[in-house]
Amino acid sequence: MDDRGPAQGRHVPVMRDRILTLLEPSLTRPGAVHVDGTLGMGGHAEGVLEAFPEVTVIGIDRDHEALALSAERLARFGDRFRPVHAVYDDIAQVIAAQGWARVDGILFDLGVSSLQLDEADRGFAYRVDAPLDMRMDQSEGLTAADVLNTYDVDELTRVLKDYGEERFARKIARAVVRDREQRPFTTSGPLVELLRRVIPGASQRQSGHPAKRTFQALRIEVNDELAGWRRAIEEAVDVLAVGGRIAVLSYHSLEDRVTKRALAAGATSSTPEGLPVELPEHAAYLGLVTRGGEEPSPAEITQNPRAASAHLRVAERIRENHQQATRSTTSGRSSLSRGSTASAGTGTKGTTR
Ligand SMILES: C[S@@+](CC[C@H](N)C(=O)[O-])C[C@H]1O[C@@H](n2cnc3c(N)ncnc32)[C@H](O)[C@@H]1O
Repeated sequence: MDDRGPAQGRHVPVMRDRILTLLEPSLTRPGAVHVDGTLGMGGHAEGVLEAFPEVTVIGIDRDHEALALSAERLARFGDRFRPVHAVYDDIAQVIAAQGWARVDGILFDLGVSSLQLDEADRGFAYRVDAPLDMRMDQSEGLTAADVLNTYDVDELTRVLKDYGEERFARKIARAVVRDREQRPFTTSGPLVELLRRVIPGASQRQSGHPAKRTFQALRIEVNDELAGWRRAIEEAVDVLAVGGRIAVLSYHSLEDRVTKRALAAGATSSTPEGLPVELPEHAAYLGLVTRGGEEPSPAEITQNPRAASAHLRVAERIRENHQQATRSTTSGRSSLSRGSTASAGTGTKGTTR
């Protein structure tokens, strides 16, 4: 914690120094641009802005409150920091609207922020009885209560199984549909009670808090997290300049699996077996900087228990791939004027400053 404003005290950025070290080769290039795709309270972005005084940072978040806090926190960096309200799947449109075609560094620190977890009325925490909202962007979309009160048993089972890896998905789904006939779900308390009732005691003793998996599943469904992440990582790799690096922090196996597959696909030649030479358009276009996921040190986990499940993967763009080369009309900076703000029609809602 320090005294620079309200956002600082809320969050210790996970593996911050390690990320800065791994991004250094791409962010010390002249005129480097970095995208923080999950700006949150701006902890990582602040680290980049301080460590690399020439770098411009575009910070994306879908949460208006997080953007407002980090805009205040990072205002001292002036035009070097550009906060944008958008979903990270729109990364290409966001950077184009800011005046670039390619960027040198990209960071995604996936999941929910400490701000979202700590504010009971956002509905992410199962340890307090709070409205079942869970939307990261509270201006649109279904809430967790809407999902619980409107999905049928099969849909609820799919969500709990696919996104929560919950063994008792169907049993829970049936109980939800039964209970909501008496009283629709509005707050987390009755849902947690239902889970304590339905999940066998032995399983509750072995697998941690009984609401953990159901809350994760609802959060992923409400925010379309996995589908959004699949789209985003492809698009992010596509806008990375040759020599640029992408870093991803994941907190559960589902999103880490998507990350691992996307980076491994780029790091593997797709030349059909049996061909005597590698075709240039099939050559690997990513180099893996981290082998397997790196984890925070025990000391960091003691200091910040929320870092415990983090896995960091970093890759470097080593060449253009066919798709990227044909889609791009310029290499390097685009012809859009620098400093233009995201506008209607780009899919973003403009800057917050
Ligand atoms: C773990 S926090 C990031 C914390 C940040 N690295 C820091 O140092 O403060 C994740 C942030 O990503 C945002 N987020 C999650 N999914 C998003 C999406 N699809 N598009 C844009 N932002 C998203 C959340 O609103 C949240 O603020």
